Amino acid sequence: MSERPVTVGLLGGGVIGGGWAARFLLNGVDVRLYDPDPDAPRRLDRMLSGARRAYRKLTILPLPPEGVLTFAPSPAEAAAGAEFVQESAPERVELKQELLAAASAAADPGVVFCSSTSGLRPSLLQARMAHPDRLAVGHPFNPVYLLPLVELCGGERTAPDTVSRAAAVYRAIGMHPLVVRNEIDGFLADRLLEALWREALWLVRDDVATVDEVDDAIRYGAGLRWAIMGTFLTYRMAGGEGGMEHFMEQFGPALALPWTKLAEVPELTPELVEKLARQSDAQAAGRSVPELERERDDCLVAVLQALRSRGAGAGETLATWERRLLATAPGADGAGPIDVAPTGPLRLFSREIPADWIDYNGHVTEARYLDLLGDATDALLRYLGVDAGYLEAGGSYYTVETHISHLGQLYAGDRVEAITQVLGWDDRRLHVYHVIVRQGDEEPVATGEHMLIHVDAAEGRASAVRDGVRSRVAAVADAHATLPRPVRAGRRIAL
Ligand SMILES: NC(=O)c1ccc[n+]([C@@H]2O[C@H](COP(=O)([O-])OP(=O)(O)OC[C@H]3O[C@@H](n4cnc5c(N)ncnc54)[C@H](O)[C@@H]3O)[C@@H](O)[C@H]2O)c1
Repeated sequence: MSERPVTVGLLGGGVIGGGWAARFLLNGVDVRLYDPDPDAPRRLDRMLSGARRAYRKLTILPLPPEGVLTFAPSPAEAAAGAEFVQESAPERVELKQELLAAASAAADPGVVFCSSTSGLRPSLLQARMAHPDRLAVGHPFNPVYLLPLVELCGGERTAPDTVSRAAAVYRAIGMHPLVVRNEIDGFLADRLLEALWREALWLVRDDVATVDEVDDAIRYGAGLRWAIMGTFLTYRMAGGEGGMEHFMEQFGPALALPWTKLAEVPELTPELVEKLARQSDAQAAGRSVPELERERDDCLVAVLQALRSRGAGAGETLATWERRLLATAPGADGAGPIDVAPTGPLRLFSREIPADWIDYNGHVTEARYLDLLGDATDALLRYLGVDAGYLEAGGSYYTVETHISHLGQLYAGDRVEAITQVLGWDDRRLHVYHVIVRQGDEEPVATGEHMLIHVDAAEGRASAVRDGVRSRVAAVADAHATLPRPVRAGRRIAL
């Protein structure tokens, strides 16, 4: 199996299994999912449209063609032929053991299985499996398609390479695997979160605060810092120039004060549960689950992008995933000399028009035409060998002039593609022409003519195109020199 599997089997398609399905599918992996609930396909569909919407905002890079989702009638059929299996069934040990036994008996012996369990030890889950050495816990966080953390924990019988192989799969789909070196209940994150959760429940039970006030106590303060610094780095900073030692000296003694309830758990009486539910409904203020999910996803995307701009925390995971997308995008794989020069214009880019590109006139707003043309230019550059390695070495092309002709209207759901022609080039310049058409229809919807300058990004100035890319540009330009010149090329705006 290469790092990114072709097909995975998923057992359970609820909040977490549905999130796994979305993450795998949007990363180009086919998914075979078993869930006995007849309503599962409807829930999956909703989860997937939310995830597609979030990914369109998350990255401007083209995603691989979406994987294919099929529903398997049994656990065995979900696992047979899959290269990796993720179990996300209800948190009941006997049910998980039975499911893993049935699926593992049908899978190839080398296939890695991971369980999404929030707290069950992998040694327990291995009990009835065929080849238990290939099971680990891969504990994700909701929404799985956006949050990168996955805690990886092996059991008594887990082979060391099971953990490393699972980690490679998770990295390939944009996640941050954190290996939990000791098998403990609750792993790392849920132990921390449970301590906070217990305290939160006590505060509400004792009428110290409402659920909304407890949430405010997190989201206006510590919650903002946690994404950047976690807990230990935060407290080091709180120690000022004296660092952690000063912090411990100043605040350490307070740990002995009876502020918290520590391991005590409030009794979950019907009154407490009713109070939590009532206050939680008031907090949601009539917003539906899909509305809250959209708000959560939009904010998470914005946070991840802000962190990426600083190279901090989960932002670095996003950047690594994008570098991977760039390296595997169409055109990036053949970055040697072009053996067979293209005999016609290139068709390197296509995409579906999303609903949020539509303006008050009911069709695609004009600025999005530049989005399409810019993405088509990126696809051409990758084809010419401007890949992650070339960019890292400082070489790149920047667009310096663009002329767009808007010739037709586009609507949500239209699939368009770009037909691309290189009109000319020299050491520093590349003259490009795209025609945007609906797929299956050659009638132009827009054309874009662009002049690009080759730059040395580190020096911030124009520079000559480098070896490797130069020969590819020359090969394409030579082949395109024999094509008819597009009628709109060289147009200027005038009455
Ligand atoms: N919800 C979270 O925030 C969260 C976070 C991390 C991990 N987890 C873990 O993920 C797992 C799933 O939790 P969830 O929140 O998605 O629960 P859920 O109730 O949303 O989903 C469980 C799904 O499993 C299906 N199912 C029931 N019996 C099954 C069977 N025999 N075989 C296959 N599928 C079956 C159900 O129809 C349902 O769709 C649990 O182990 C949980 O601890 C949950």
